[in-house]
Amino acid sequence: MEVVIVSDAKAGGELIAGAMAELLRHKPDALLGVATGSTPLPIYQALAATVSAGGVDASRARVAQLDEYVGLPAEHPESYRSVLRREVLEPLGLDLGAFMGPDGTAEDVMAACEAYDRALAEAGGVDLQLLGIGTDGHIGFNEPCSSLASRTRIKTLTEQTRIDNARFFEGDIEQVPHHVITQGIGTILEARHLVLLATGEGKADAVAATVEGPVAAVCPASALQLHPHATVVVDEGAASKL
Ligand code: GLP
Repeated sequence: MEVVIVSDAKAGGELIAGAMAELLRHKPDALLGVATGSTPLPIYQALAATVSAGGVDASRARVAQLDEYVGLPAEHPESYRSVLRREVLEPLGLDLGAFMGPDGTAEDVMAACEAYDRALAEAGGVDLQLLGIGTDGHIGFNEPCSSLASRTRIKTLTEQTRIDNARFFEGDIEQVPHHVITQGIGTILEARHLVLLATGEGKADAVAATVEGPVAAVCPASALQLHPHATVVVDEGAASKL
């Protein structure tokens, strides 16, 4: 695992967007695994700026979703499909044809999870998977004690994650769904390159457990230690307990 300490979130975003642009130069139809949350936004802004300045052609890029709420209609503004369309696809000039994600409204959610795992494999696998990290060390929506070999499946959110995410639902925890579909940790580990960005002191404990702790299900992100090509980019706040 490579750990890179940057001065701030903007520098982290630029560094990672640079790696994504480099990948697209070598593989124009690369499958980019994208995450939601506030942390990756500087990455998407920096990549969109590079594209609009003519620094890289992203018109053939493909984008795959990490996780999704169960039961929110796809057109709901806070479904992760909507969020990623706003934050990633539209700024890169891509439409939903370039996008793959699990169906959070499927009647048979388990079948939808299996179908998504299969679709990722059939698409050739994720080339570069972006990850944020929860304050409890979760990646995607793999909460602590998720199996490190887990596949895409339905999960119940912890109270803490629902509280953390209420800010996207007018601060009202009642509006935050209880269930989600998430790529499993085993699924995530199949991506060719994992890139985790963490910023701010609030993530310092989770980052320390990820980088220096044992590989343990209690900190799902520690599974990155098992991956042959994992990069953890942290600002000084998130690095403060290393
Ligand atoms: C959610 C997402 C994760 C994300 C986490 C942290 O739980 N499912 O993918 O990493 O939030 O979000 P933030 O970056 O806003 O702290």
